[in-house]
Amino acid sequence: MRDALGAVQSILVLGGGSEIGIATVKALAEQRCRTVVLAGRHPEQLEPVADDLRAAGVTTVDLVAFDAADPASHEQVLTTIFSDHPDLDVVLLAFGVLGDQDAFAADPVSAAEAAVTNYAGAVSSGLVVAQLLKEQGHGTLAVITSVAGERARADNFVYGSTKAGLDAFAQGLGDSLVGTGASVMVVRPGFVRTKMTAHMEDGPMATTPEAVAADIVAGLKSGAHTVWSPAKLRPVFGILKLLPRPIWRKLAASR
Ligand SMILES: NC(=O)c1ccc[n+]([C@@H]2O[C@H](COP(=O)([O-])OP(=O)(O)OC[C@H]3O[C@@H](n4cnc5c(N)ncnc54)[C@H](OP(=O)(O)O)[C@@H]3O)[C@@H](O)[C@H]2O)c1
Repeated sequence: MRDALGAVQSILVLGGGSEIGIATVKALAEQRCRTVVLAGRHPEQLEPVADDLRAAGVTTVDLVAFDAADPASHEQVLTTIFSDHPDLDVVLLAFGVLGDQDAFAADPVSAAEAAVTNYAGAVSSGLVVAQLLKEQGHGTLAVITSVAGERARADNFVYGSTKAGLDAFAQGLGDSLVGTGASVMVVRPGFVRTKMTAHMEDGPMATTPEAVAADIVAGLKSGAHTVWSPAKLRPVFGILKLLPRPIWRKLAASR
């Protein structure tokens, strides 16, 4: 349960190795968060992060195996986590794969696998988390989507379409939870310098995982339903979404 000042005291990160996710838990640790559960494909690789969090004052750090691409496992894995940690204030859905549009075109099965991770796996785990938050009577599911879902680009439309679907899912789930005590916060970052984008040149308004984490923490504190990171992307995409397709194609190709 959040403390009297509304500070988050416990968080579960799905995709626990995410640089944005780790920056977020580190920022929350500075604000009295005392329980962190990192759930990822290779939990043993997260030990150094766990050590950092303990040094920052987090009293309980749990590393758990979780595969977004295995929806059939989600109910059991998440129910066990909630039973081991009966009072989770926030669940941050941070897993995702970017992939490569040309590689997806050459191997459509790999594109479908990315869609399973980014979308189907988020639908499955998101629905289970929503039910568990409803049962405990409080808690926020923060879902990291992307501005790539705001308008499809020819050079990354497989990824962009998974994020568009995820964003719509998260909005609808949030609306369905109104009045239950549980809530959903959609997080829409632009280009963030993490291992996911390490091979790429900076996109427009590129930012850092720490800056996105600060926006997420601020959004959790204010009870926002949507967080753009950086915030100026909101008016920018308000305009970009209205551009005629030929102009958008040219603009997207020139970046
Ligand atoms: N970086 C950007 O520019 C940017 C912009 C907008 C949105 N986003 C979104 O922000 C989220 C976090 O990304 P990030 O930038 O922090 O990149 P990141 O450090 O690469 O984090 C992505 C995480 O997803 C995990 N993951 C991938 N497939 C998984 C699976 N099947 N099961 C469980 N975990 C899985 C990865 O696990 P492993 O460590 O095992 O590989 C990794 O820890 C993603 O949803 C991404 O799409 C990123």
